[in-house]
Amino acid sequence: MIKAEERDTMTQEGMTPQGSTPRAGAEGAPGVTIADVRFEHHRDALGVGEARPRLSWIVATTTAGWRQAGYEIEAYGTDGRLRGRTSRGQSDQSVLVHWPFAPLSSRERLMVRVRVWSVDGQVSAWSEPSPIEAGLLHTGDWAAQFVTPAWEEDTTRPQPGPLLRREFDVDAGVTKARLYVTALGVYEAQLNGVPAGDHVLGPGWTSYNHRLCYQTFDVTGLLHEGRNAIGAMLGDGWYRGRMGFEGGRRNIYGDRLALLAQLEINYEDGTSAWIVTDETWRAARGPILASDIYDGETYDARMELPGWSAPGYDDRGWVGVQRLERDLATIVAPSGPPVRRTELVAPVAITTSPSGRTIVDFGQNLVGRLRLTVRGEVGQTITLRHAEVLEHGELCTRPLRLAKATDRYTLWGGGVETWEPRFTFHGFRYAEVEGWPGEVQAGDLRAVVCHSDMERTGWFECSDELINQLHQNVVWGMRGNFLDVPTDCPQRDERLGWTGDIQVFAPTASFLYDCAGFLTSWLADLAAEQAAAGGVVPLVVPNVVPMPPIPAAAWGDAAVIVPWVLYQRYGNAGILAEQFESMRAWVDLVTGLAGDERLWDKGFQLGDWLDPSAPPDRPGDARTDPHVLATAYLARSAQLLGQVAGVLGRAEEEARYLRLANQVRDAFNAEYVTPAGRVLSDSETAYALALQFGLLKNAEQRRHAAKRLVALVRESGYHISTGFVGTPLISDALCSVGEVEAAFHLLIQRECPSWLYPVTMGATTIWERWDSLLPDGSVNPGKMTSFNHYALGAVADWVHRKVGGLAPAAPGYRKLDVRPRPGAGLTHARVQHITPYGLAGCAWTIEAGRIEVEVEVPPNAMASVILPAGSGTPIEVGSGRHHWSYPYHIELSRHPLSLDSMISEFIDDPEAWTAVLNTMRKHLPALAGHMDIGTIMLHNSNMTLKQVLSHLPHAEESRLALEATLTALGRWGVEGTGSE
Ligand code: BGC
Repeated sequence: MIKAEERDTMTQEGMTPQGSTPRAGAEGAPGVTIADVRFEHHRDALGVGEARPRLSWIVATTTAGWRQAGYEIEAYGTDGRLRGRTSRGQSDQSVLVHWPFAPLSSRERLMVRVRVWSVDGQVSAWSEPSPIEAGLLHTGDWAAQFVTPAWEEDTTRPQPGPLLRREFDVDAGVTKARLYVTALGVYEAQLNGVPAGDHVLGPGWTSYNHRLCYQTFDVTGLLHEGRNAIGAMLGDGWYRGRMGFEGGRRNIYGDRLALLAQLEINYEDGTSAWIVTDETWRAARGPILASDIYDGETYDARMELPGWSAPGYDDRGWVGVQRLERDLATIVAPSGPPVRRTELVAPVAITTSPSGRTIVDFGQNLVGRLRLTVRGEVGQTITLRHAEVLEHGELCTRPLRLAKATDRYTLWGGGVETWEPRFTFHGFRYAEVEGWPGEVQAGDLRAVVCHSDMERTGWFECSDELINQLHQNVVWGMRGNFLDVPTDCPQRDERLGWTGDIQVFAPTASFLYDCAGFLTSWLADLAAEQAAAGGVVPLVVPNVVPMPPIPAAAWGDAAVIVPWVLYQRYGNAGILAEQFESMRAWVDLVTGLAGDERLWDKGFQLGDWLDPSAPPDRPGDARTDPHVLATAYLARSAQLLGQVAGVLGRAEEEARYLRLANQVRDAFNAEYVTPAGRVLSDSETAYALALQFGLLKNAEQRRHAAKRLVALVRESGYHISTGFVGTPLISDALCSVGEVEAAFHLLIQRECPSWLYPVTMGATTIWERWDSLLPDGSVNPGKMTSFNHYALGAVADWVHRKVGGLAPAAPGYRKLDVRPRPGAGLTHARVQHITPYGLAGCAWTIEAGRIEVEVEVPPNAMASVILPAGSGTPIEVGSGRHHWSYPYHIELSRHPLSLDSMISEFIDDPEAWTAVLNTMRKHLPALAGHMDIGTIMLHNSNMTLKQVLSHLPHAEESRLALEATLTALGRWGVEGTGSE
C-alpha cells in the first residue's frame, strides 16, 4: 500500500459555491435558467481525459426570441473556494465553449456554474453547479502495473476467467475514493463483494494497440474503516477471444489477460493511500469456465468462491500474479458513455417447437443476454441458445454462421439462483432453453438489453403505423449496434466496426441519440489504424482483419464524412481539427489512386453493396459500376475536406481541395455523363450520386438525370433498386428535383424489396438484406443474412428532415431548417430532437381541410420555416413555440382509373397498383410459373391496361375482377367496356 502525502487540495465533496459569490438562483431574470451544463460530450464528467474540457449549456426560458449576448463562468474547488471566474464575455456561444481556466490537473475536481445575459440585458440565475473531475491525465500518474495470473494456459481455446484479489486496511476519515481500472480482456471490478459501478463489458472495445480505455469509479461508499478487499473477474472479450469471420482468430491483441487497477483513497487529514495492482495480488480460476463474445459463456456455480472479493477470505490456495509489460501511454479516458444494462424485456410467449424444444419469444429482436432465476438440483446444466428468427418453428441459427451464441449455467442447487452471463452478448429475439428444472415460466427469464448508454435525443411518429414501426426498428437497430463500437450486426461471427455502415447511418444515429462522444472515440481509433496502414482506412475499425487494409470508396470515406456529420449535428468544429490529418490522408491517398485523370477506376471496390438485384451469394454484384461510385465519392470527400479546411481557417488547403473536387467532378462528368445528362450505369444509385454530390454540369443535365431517375424509380414499381450506397441518397435525390411524391411512394411501398416489406413480415429491427426473410417466410439462403443491420435504416434521416421537417441549417442546429413535406396521405407527423441548444420540434396535422403546423425553436437558436403548400418564402423565427393554421387539402394521386388508363398511372397509385397486381396474380396463376405479371406490366408501362389484358389469357375474367377490385377501392372512375 502506498501511503502518500496530500495529492490534491480536495477535502470535501459536493459543496456548492458559497461565500461572497452569488448563490444559485439568488439573482437573475425570472424565467431564464441554465438547464444543463456539460463538459465535452460526457453525460457524467467523472474521470474525464480532457484537461481543457469545452463547456456547453442549455438555456431554459419561455421568453420568445431569446438570444444570448454574453456569459460568465465560475469554477469552485470542492472546498468551496473560487478557483476561476471569467469576466463577463460578449459572446453568443453556448455550445462547446473553450475552457476558460487553467488546465485541469489529474484528479482535479471542480464545480462549475454559468450565467448568461440576453441581448436585451436580462441576466439569468446562476446554474446549479456541475461537477467535473479529471481522470489520470499523464502516464506518470499510474503507479499500478498490469498483472496477470502466474499460470500456464492453453490460449488456443477459451480459458476459465481468472479472479484477482487483495486485501487492505482503511483508516477512519475517508473523504473520497476513486478506482481507476482497466484490463487486457474484459473485467468486472468489485469492492467488498459489491461491483464497482454498473458498467457492462468494461473497458469496452477500442483499437487496443493504440488506445485502451480505463474507467473511473467513485467507490467512496463501498469502503469502510478496517479491513477491505478489492477483486476483479476477467474474461477473454475482444482482446483475446475469437474475432472475425470465417473462423476468425484468437489472441489478436495478446494472449494474456491482465488487470490494471489503482484505488486512491483520500482522507480528511489530507493524506491519501493507494492500492495498486502489483505482485502482491493473488489469482484463482473462478466459475466462468469459458467466455467468448461470439460463442457465449459457460458458468459453473459450483465453482463459485463465496466471499472472494470481501475481506477475510482465505486465499492461501490462490496463486501469485506476474507483471505484464504494456505501454501505459496507450491508456486513455473514454470520450463516450460506458455500456450499461438499459432495459429488461419479459418474454411474450413460451412455446414448444415441432421437435419438442422450449422456445422463448421476447417479441423484440434485441441485443444483450438473458437473466435467469431458477431453483434446481446441484449439477443440473441449463443451456440457452439464441437466435433472431425461427424457421419451421425451430431456432434458426444458420445466420449466426460460426457464432455459437450459447450460454450454459450449472446450478449449485442451494435455493433460488439468479444468473446473467458477464462477458458476452447476443443478438436475439428467441432463446431455446434446455435442461431447465421443471417447466420454465415467463417470470423466470428476462432479456437484459445492453448498449452504450447514450442519451436519447430524437423521436418521430406519424399517422402511418407501419412507418412508425419502421422507425422503431431503426431505433432498435441502433441500440443493438452501438455497443461501444458502431457495428454492422450484433449476432453472427462478425460484429465489426464496418466503416461504410456507419458512414451512411451517422446522420440518423446522431439524431436519435447523443452519440458524439461515442463516435469521437471510434474516429480516434480510425485515425490511429489508418496512420498505421499508411493512409488506408481499414474496412473495419478496430481492424481485426488479418490482411493488409485495402481502400474502398464509401467505406473509407467514413474518415471524412463521419466527422463532418458530427460537426453539422453537434456544432463540434473541434472534431474537424482532430480528424483533419486523417481526412486529408484519405483524400490524398485516393487522389493518388485516381492519378492525373482524377478517376478512381481501378482496383477493389465493395460498390453499391446489397443492391437487391445482386444474387444472395454475390452481394457486390450491383447494377451500378463500382468505379462510378468510387469517383463520385472522391469528389464528395474532396469537396467536404475543402469545406473543413475553410471552417478551420486553413485557406491554402481550402483552395487546394475545392480545386481538386472540381477536377474530379469534371473528370466524372467527362467520363460517365453524356452531354444530355444520362449517367453510367443508368441506375438509380448512379443518378442519386450524381444529383446529391453535384456531379452534373448544368441545369440541362440535371433535368435529364432527374427525368431518368424518376423513370427508373417508376419502372421499378417504386420498389427499392439501390444498395447500401444508393439507399441513403435516393429519397433526397428525388426531393431535390421536386419528386417528393415519388420519394413517398418508395417509403410506403410494402412489397419486397422496400423499407416496409420487413415491417409487414413482423420485423422489429432493420434487416441487412431487403429480403432477409423471403416472402414465403423462409430465411434468405445467403451466407450473410442478419436481421439487425442499421445501414438500410439510414432512410430515417430523410424521414426526420423531410417528413418531420427538422434539419440543421447551421452547425449544431444553431439555425433550424424547418420544412415539413406532407405526402402519401399522411395526416400528421411529429419530430422532436434535443439539439445542443435544447429541444426543437415540428409537428403538423391535416384535418377537416386545414393544416396545423407547430414549431418549437430552442433558446439561442432560430429557424427558417417553409410551410407546406405555402408561398415557399422562408419565415424567419426566433426561439419559442410557433403555430400556423390554414386551409390545406391532401393531394392524393388518386385519379379515377379505367381500362384505358396507362399502366404508369396505376404504378403512380401504389394502393391501386398493389390491388391490380394481386388480382392479376390470382386470376392468372398459370402465368406465375413462367413470368411475373408485375414485371411484364412494368416493362410495358406505356400501354393501357386494356392493351396488356388483350395479350393475356382469361382477359374477360380478369377485367371483371379488376373492375370489382378498383370499384372497392373507389378508383373505378370511367366505365370501361372491356372490348375494342
Ligand atoms: C458486413 C457489412 C459490410 C460488408 C462489406 C458485411 O459482412 O456485415 O455490413 O459493410 O460486409 O463488405
